[in-house]
Amino acid sequence: MSEQAEIGVIGGSGFYSFLDDVTEITVETPYGPPSDSLFLGETGGRRVAFLPRHGRGHHLPPHRINYRANLWALRSVGVRQVLGPCAVGGLRPKYGPGTLVVPDQLVDRTKGRTQSYFDGEPLPDGTVPPVIHATFADPYCETGRDAALRAARGRAWEAVDGGTMCVIEGPRFSTRAESRWHAAQGWDVVGMTGHPEAVLARELGLCYASLALVTDLDAGAETGDGVSHEEVLRVFGENIARLRDVLFDAVRHLPASDARACHCDAALGGQDTGFALP
Ligand code: ADE
Repeated sequence: MSEQAEIGVIGGSGFYSFLDDVTEITVETPYGPPSDSLFLGETGGRRVAFLPRHGRGHHLPPHRINYRANLWALRSVGVRQVLGPCAVGGLRPKYGPGTLVVPDQLVDRTKGRTQSYFDGEPLPDGTVPPVIHATFADPYCETGRDAALRAARGRAWEAVDGGTMCVIEGPRFSTRAESRWHAAQGWDVVGMTGHPEAVLARELGLCYASLALVTDLDAGAETGDGVSHEEVLRVFGENIARLRDVLFDAVRHLPASDARACHCDAALGGQDTGFALP
């Protein structure tokens, strides 16, 4: 039981230190190792598994994260609902540093990241996954979004309900021209990790919601020297305590996994995956 959890949080290492009785476990997956150990513990009577997205010490850049292993590892310990806090840049002046956005749409501008469990590559046991197309029109779980929004409101942090997150390949930040173009498309925030995390969760039938903390105005929306990594880290650090409070409250607002009213676990529409999900 202590090695099981129902809710997963993929985020920075600052999050798990406040769980009760943390157990660290190593999980193997058919896709190789996840970013780090899973840290399992309890908050408000809910079992939570934390996974540091970039690894302890933040050694994995966004394009080198093994997203498939991360989601697989979480599911294999029982996780069915995932919250994904992340740092983003604001594409509009009104979304300045410290704004919390709970997006409802996503645009994938990554390049060359493996974004499916069903890409024809044989698993180590020789199984060849079939071709499967997941329903992804609404990339985020509405129940998870609602839990995040209620949690933020409860902490007097008026989060932005909805908006489009553009996910770039990184690890560099956008040029001003790219950034202005992203804004002109009507997109609201820009990050580097929101995809393929969201679609892989969907392929595994997991609920997934993102809590996007704006750490900077992106290059097209600011007038200074452009975004710097130091700025991102500083603003994230300034907001980590309240983001952690919101996450822990959001965990409590999530329904029991077997009482989910959403359709996140039906994204494959009954298509045969050809292998057993963990
Ligand atoms: N993460 C934090 N700020 C960002 C930005 N401006 N662009 C991409 N990813 C980010």
